[in-house]
Amino acid sequence: MRMYWYIPTSMLLSILRFWRLLEMPRLELCDVSKYYGRIKALEKVNLTVEDGEYLAVIGPSGCGKSTMLKVIAGIVEPTRGDVRVDGRSIVGLPPEDRGVGFIFQNLALFPHMTGLENSMYGLLTRETATDEALNMVRKLRMEFGFRARLSRLPGELSMGEQQEVAILRAVASGAKIMLLDEPLSSIDAKVAVEVRRKLREVVKSKGLTALHVTHNQEEAMSVADRIAVMRKGRILQVGKPEELYYKPRSPFVMAFVGDASFLTGTCRGGRAVVRGGYDLGPCDMPEGELIVIGVRPESIVFGRGIPGKVRLRSYLGSLIRYEVELENGDIVTAVSEEEQGENVKVWFEKYKVFKYPREGLTEALSPG
Ligand SMILES: Nc1ncnc2c1ncn2[C@@H]1O[C@H](COP(=O)(O)OP(=O)(O)O)[C@@H](O)[C@H]1O
Ligand SMILES: [Mg+2]
Repeated sequence: MRMYWYIPTSMLLSILRFWRLLEMPRLELCDVSKYYGRIKALEKVNLTVEDGEYLAVIGPSGCGKSTMLKVIAGIVEPTRGDVRVDGRSIVGLPPEDRGVGFIFQNLALFPHMTGLENSMYGLLTRETATDEALNMVRKLRMEFGFRARLSRLPGELSMGEQQEVAILRAVASGAKIMLLDEPLSSIDAKVAVEVRRKLREVVKSKGLTALHVTHNQEEAMSVADRIAVMRKGRILQVGKPEELYYKPRSPFVMAFVGDASFLTGTCRGGRAVVRGGYDLGPCDMPEGELIVIGVRPESIVFGRGIPGKVRLRSYLGSLIRYEVELENGDIVTAVSEEEQGENVKVWFEKYKVFKYPREGLTEALSPG
């Protein structure tokens, strides 16, 4: 009987161990800080990017996005903390030994090499036969539908074409981890939509792991499995696009991911009350607490509730976007399929209530 149990238990243990290996996260930042003198570019950043995951990083200019990628790539070393790939620290390793492909924000193509030589650079340093490298780059160029003439030097290409070469170079490098810093910023908006779809497809089909920095929230929402929102060197929230949209943990995340309006109010008798005494539903914060109420445009319903005036209307195609100044002075953004008159009444269907940050709403929403 003992024997009978002994074998399955040990088997179970090794299966568990194997399972853990399979589940081993691809890339981890553990309490990473990076200071440039007194500037805290990164402050105790913790982030795990799973094997095969496409993660987008968004946040205002100067919040540390590029620094985070540079720390992973080994271009700058962290002041504190560790960076691990498959559980092993890569801090101190030279960039070329880290298995990462990198698209820099300023592209950094080799100016004396043609587009083709630039694209093949990673392949050739790994001693892939020239013919093979050539075919691979040509195939990728076709797949992406790129137009850049690869016989030209970077100086003879437009910014968008240089960006194409940078994408080819990173993808062709054969690296398992792709670090993409604003990879589509110079590419024509319509083309960029195609290229980002292709980028995601390549990452998924080749089983790569991608960290894609962008200031374009729509790009992040459509390309990524998960999004990390950064502010002032910290990661505020990481989650699936819909999680960040429907469950933002702070007004900043709510404002940064999707459209949102904010009203200030007070928690009174378990209700959220805004200026003018309007009751916007339950509030579980302490009595008298100042609060911020964030509202998504589609949560605002026309027809009843607080009176207001339409200040601005924009036709978005199937929807019309309204900026409404409420009677109490607050301004909210709403959308409707129907044409609304000048004088409206609005109500809040689903709403999010946030604690009023001590430093104030303006401070809570400011980038730096
Ligand atoms: N080499 C550097 N020396 C000094 N300060 C730097 C350097 N690189 C970045 N910084 C500062 O670190 C902060 C984060 O920069 P960065 O990572 O480039 O932000 P982002 O990419 O989000 O715009 C900024 O305040 C920036 O001015
Ligand atoms: Mg940057």
